[in-house]
Amino acid sequence: MDIRRFQKKIFSHYEEKGRDLPWRRTKDPYKILLSEIMLQQTQVDRVIDYYKKWTKKWPAVKKLANASRKDILKAWMGLGYNNRAINLHKTAKIISDHFKGNIINAVQNHEILPGIGPYTSAAVQIFAKNADIVTIDTNIRRVLMHEFNIMDDKVPEMAKKCLPKGKSRIWHNALMDYGQILSSRKTGIKPKTQQTKFEGSDRQVRARIMRLLLKKSHSFTELKDSLTVKTSRLNKIIEKMLKEKVIKEKNKRYSI
Ligand code: ADE
Repeated sequence: MDIRRFQKKIFSHYEEKGRDLPWRRTKDPYKILLSEIMLQQTQVDRVIDYYKKWTKKWPAVKKLANASRKDILKAWMGLGYNNRAINLHKTAKIISDHFKGNIINAVQNHEILPGIGPYTSAAVQIFAKNADIVTIDTNIRRVLMHEFNIMDDKVPEMAKKCLPKGKSRIWHNALMDYGQILSSRKTGIKPKTQQTKFEGSDRQVRARIMRLLLKKSHSFTELKDSLTVKTSRLNKIIEKMLKEKVIKEKNKRYSI
């Protein structure tokens, strides 16, 4: 496939069928950052309402930085992978305290921001500033591998070759939308990291613990009675959550 033809195909698909998503109507780096974190492991349809709720409740990074962890976790409830919310809160504080609220400046130094990797750093710069850089999510990767019949190791180089300078924002939106119709089933290209099953997983137990602790503090016995999980397993999960400082313990009672 020739690059010009590929670009035309992606853009014309976007003109006809591009999705109008709330975070595509803003250039505010804070809102873009928020959307990217939410979209990391959650489907677009589920993210939309949360995104609207969050941007209304905390319209700026400083507001989020000043919120309590408890309020943040409450508002995140249902999106899953609560660590994303905790990291986002920490990141908001670092951005407020050390980067004077300058998000672009901060994401360019993403190594010190918890939960922000190279993908998110680039995505924020692209969608907020139309930066002439590339970012490769699972959809974009699949599109490039399929259309150019290449393996993983050639994807970054191909992504750079295909980027139409000055149109990075719309290009990446268009690529993501094209990736949406070019399914993993259709192409036979599987995502690199497959999400593990939630039902019956430690992740599910953790989510249920969080739900209980958001209401009130619990002792080990109280948690065990509400959860139908073996003592040894519950012990391990709680130990891990304590170590990660997701929860805390005081006088043998656990809380957020
Ligand atoms: N996934 C991650 N970022 C996205 C975006 N800007 N639009 C749609 N899906 C996305």
